[in-house]
Amino acid sequence: MPLPTSALDFGIFNDRRYPLPEVSAMTETINVNINGTTYSHDVEPRLLLIHYLREVVGLTGPHIGCETSLCGACTVELSGKAVKSCAVFAIQCDGAKILTIEGMAANGKLHKIQEAFWNEHGLQCGFCTPGMIMTTKQILDRNPNPSDQEIRHGLEGNLCRCTGYQHIVNAVKAAAKAAGA
Ligand code: FES
Ligand code: FES
Repeated sequence: MPLPTSALDFGIFNDRRYPLPEVSAMTETINVNINGTTYSHDVEPRLLLIHYLREVVGLTGPHIGCETSLCGACTVELSGKAVKSCAVFAIQCDGAKILTIEGMAANGKLHKIQEAFWNEHGLQCGFCTPGMIMTTKQILDRNPNPSDQEIRHGLEGNLCRCTGYQHIVNAVKAAAKAAGA
C-alpha cells in the first residue's frame, strides 16, 4: 500500500466537517484593453485582476504584497482610476481599459514619473514602486501641483518598507515640476 503523501491522502480534509470545495469549471469571456493591446480570455468569476494580469496576461509589473487591499503594490489604472487589483475581479473588467506600470514608458523612454522616482531615489528594493507610480499618476492627474500634505494623503494606501517616504514625496514633487506645474 503506498504511503500517504498529502493531507488529502490522510483524509484530514475529506470528511463531513471539511468537504472538499467544488472545482468550478464555469468561465466567462472577457475582453480587456491593457496598455493599448486588446486581450480576450475565458476566466473564472473568482479570478482576481492581479492574478489575471500576472498569470494569464504575463504582466508581472503589478506586485502582490498583501492580497487584502492594504499595501497598494498591485495598483493599476482601471478606466482612469487607480485601483488595487487584488480588490477587483477580472470579470469586472470586461470592456475596460487598463494601464499597468509596463504601459507607462513609451518608445523606449521612461515616463516623467518614472524618471522622477529614479532621479529622486524614490525607491530602494522597488517592490512598492509600480504601485507608487500608478498612484502618483492619479494624484497628478487630479491635481498637477499638489502640496506635500496632499501627496502624503494621496499615497496613504501605498506602503513602502524601505524609503521612509520622504524620497517618494520628493519624487512626486519632481514629477509635477517636470510636467510643468
Ligand atoms: S496586493 Fe493588493 S493591496 Fe496589497
Ligand atoms: S522601495 Fe522597497 S518597499 Fe518601497
